[in-house]
Amino acid sequence: MLKFDYPKNVQQFDMVAIPDMKHYIDCSMEELFAIQQVANEIQEKANVLLVIGVGGSFLGARAVIDALTPYFGTKSNVEVIYAGNNMSGAYLKQLLAYLEDKSVYVNVVSKSGTTMEPALAFRVVKQYMENRYAKEAVKRILVTTDAKKGILKQIADQEGYRQFVIPADVGGRYSVFTPAGLLPIAASGIDIQAFLDGARQAESDFLNENILENAAYQYAFSRFELYSQGYSLELLASFEPRLKKLHEWWKQLFGESEGKEQKGLYPSTVTFSTDLHAIGQFIQDGSRILFETLIHFEEIEEDIEVPFTLDDMDGLNYLAGRSMNEINATSKDGVVLAHEEGGVPVMKICLSKLDAYHVGYLMFFFMKACVISATLLEVNPFDQPGVEAYKKKMLELLKENVVNIHE
Ligand code: PA5
Repeated sequence: MLKFDYPKNVQQFDMVAIPDMKHYIDCSMEELFAIQQVANEIQEKANVLLVIGVGGSFLGARAVIDALTPYFGTKSNVEVIYAGNNMSGAYLKQLLAYLEDKSVYVNVVSKSGTTMEPALAFRVVKQYMENRYAKEAVKRILVTTDAKKGILKQIADQEGYRQFVIPADVGGRYSVFTPAGLLPIAASGIDIQAFLDGARQAESDFLNENILENAAYQYAFSRFELYSQGYSLELLASFEPRLKKLHEWWKQLFGESEGKEQKGLYPSTVTFSTDLHAIGQFIQDGSRILFETLIHFEEIEEDIEVPFTLDDMDGLNYLAGRSMNEINATSKDGVVLAHEEGGVPVMKICLSKLDAYHVGYLMFFFMKACVISATLLEVNPFDQPGVEAYKKKMLELLKENVVNIHE
């Protein structure tokens, strides 16, 4: 299902105990049915779903949607777009203009219901929807939040919005298999059942106590070993541009789970071959601070052959008839050989096919490996105390300004 390859010996590590993770794939049949029904309604009535959320409340959905929908256009008739993940006024202004000739549904996702970025964006968008759709706005706004608490929950109750629940014991960056991820993913036309099946298979496979047969433990142990040897940066790399947002999700998962108490690998990402022409020089030849983890999907659904030309003006006829995906895979093999020769440790994660099932499998694999990894570092994988620091300072400044305005 998933092959992990790093030739170092992981046998020296003892199994570490981590909490049970079954509830991370937390969606009952009734909930799944409700999500699919709303997704069908969105596909019938809208051509844009605006997802408002930040961090773990949008990155998972965006990762899956980008990985599994076409590069150009959409899989269903619904384009999923995002807001509430930045504080740019220009972004919001242009967003509203973009929505003007579209039929719009909104899904606001916030577990706490108090995060500034989505809260501000929702304030603007709520007003826009009410002005545009009047009473019908209530039907077009969907809220995903905690079952019991938070301002967003109160607003949803008061306004009568349909609600979906992020379970209290599942943190944002681990929430892609809950309604937080599943609703936008389903609306985009992706098979959420297959996505969850992949995750459930991974959950069961990575319970295996034989380390040599458990890729999640092998990956976590290998990165811990490299960290202990002084490597400070892990570079996640893949060769398919549509995986860029999956990289972003991985970066947040590991960054927020491990980077605390002055510990942790810095998670960074590259997309090849594009970035070989940007950062490739540094990887091959720069400071020896990093190791690489390559993700490879063996089968990518669409492909194209290099055409033969009579004049062979560009001298590329030796590649005529070969598939682009095959050439891409060969470039991966070339990268591994070159980077290893340059002294960069390279780990490989290989899956058979880029589809909903395997993306679900891979994301659960990373979630499990992340929890093991943080446990090895002796940090709590589930909190993010450092994120509060900027919020506190920003609020102090904003409140100071309010005082100044009223003076
Ligand atoms: O992983 C996390 O817990 C965070 O990234 C949160 O998802 C992010 O801060 C958004 O929080 P909330 O969903 O409460 O708005």
